[in-house]
Amino acid sequence: MSVEYPAVALLNWYDRNARALPWRIPPGSPERADPYRVWLSEIMLQQTTVTAVIPYFDRFTTRWPTVQSLAAADDADVMAAWAGLGYYARARNLLACARAVAKLGSFPTTEVGLRRLPGIGPYTAAAIASIAFNERAAVVDGNIERVITRLFAISTPLPQAKTAIRAHVDTLTPHDRPGDFAQSMMDLGSAICTPRAPRCPTCPLAPHCIAHAQSNPETYPVKAPKAARPLKRGTVFWLEHDGHVLLITRPAKGLLGGMLALPTGPWKIGEPDLTGAPVETAWQITPTAIRHGFTHFELVLDLAMAQVTKRPPIEGNWTAMTDLPKAGLPTLFRKAINQRLAAS
Ligand code: ADE
Repeated sequence: MSVEYPAVALLNWYDRNARALPWRIPPGSPERADPYRVWLSEIMLQQTTVTAVIPYFDRFTTRWPTVQSLAAADDADVMAAWAGLGYYARARNLLACARAVAKLGSFPTTEVGLRRLPGIGPYTAAAIASIAFNERAAVVDGNIERVITRLFAISTPLPQAKTAIRAHVDTLTPHDRPGDFAQSMMDLGSAICTPRAPRCPTCPLAPHCIAHAQSNPETYPVKAPKAARPLKRGTVFWLEHDGHVLLITRPAKGLLGGMLALPTGPWKIGEPDLTGAPVETAWQITPTAIRHGFTHFELVLDLAMAQVTKRPPIEGNWTAMTDLPKAGLPTLFRKAINQRLAAS
């Protein structure tokens, strides 16, 4: 039996096994992918799983079916629709990018042009250029890094290995169907070349794969040891008046920027206190704290609760407790709300 070139083997496999995804045009279809849907999906998929993204993608594209409609949306509506997806800088950049594209009239059609837009880094520019515009761009995400380090048995640890990985992807990417090639690599990484127990017997790249020949695919990619994440602490405030709770909008810059939130004090290394409380009153601290993982630190917040009989004159959004589930709060504050409801 002759062995096909890796790209040919992979595209043949993709033709039979491509995942059906709401932003994707199935292989062989004469339809062109919509750059708006490709862009939106790629932004949402940064650091987030396909399963988590699909319902958000469906809601966004139903509510804002074009980049022009998204560009015209209210910031607060988009931030609330993004709530729960995490990494909120993506949502702020999403709006900035939609507005830049609406001003240009359409998406730039090249990797270089896309790279100039807010929130579009090297990965996203390459992914959109290849999937939406058929440019032969080298697309490298985490799944593809795993496939390539195994295929070529690259033992240099990540992130140092990134340059070599990119060079291999560039060599492998075909002139014909570069977008399908990129998506076939992603699907292979998600379905076959998995982090644990890869399914090598069914892999179209097995005849080319050095790690498979060495029977040690799980040793790749080699990763430099991660620094431990520091622990930051703080206090989150639940201020209640007549069935309503005080919410604020967080400052535009910084973590969870622009999102609706419960008030908090500073997040820092060391003991939490009542700094940042919206009013001076007899705060009651619940015995169980709220834990949340961010990329660069772990956060533990004490929950301070108080009820006031007179509504204090504070800038903010007094929200009925029954409306909290649909208020569009980030996961951290949803945890705090669940904690508060469990304490009552
Ligand atoms: N992850 C990131 N982009 C993707 C895509 N276009 N298809 C599947 N998974 C992805």
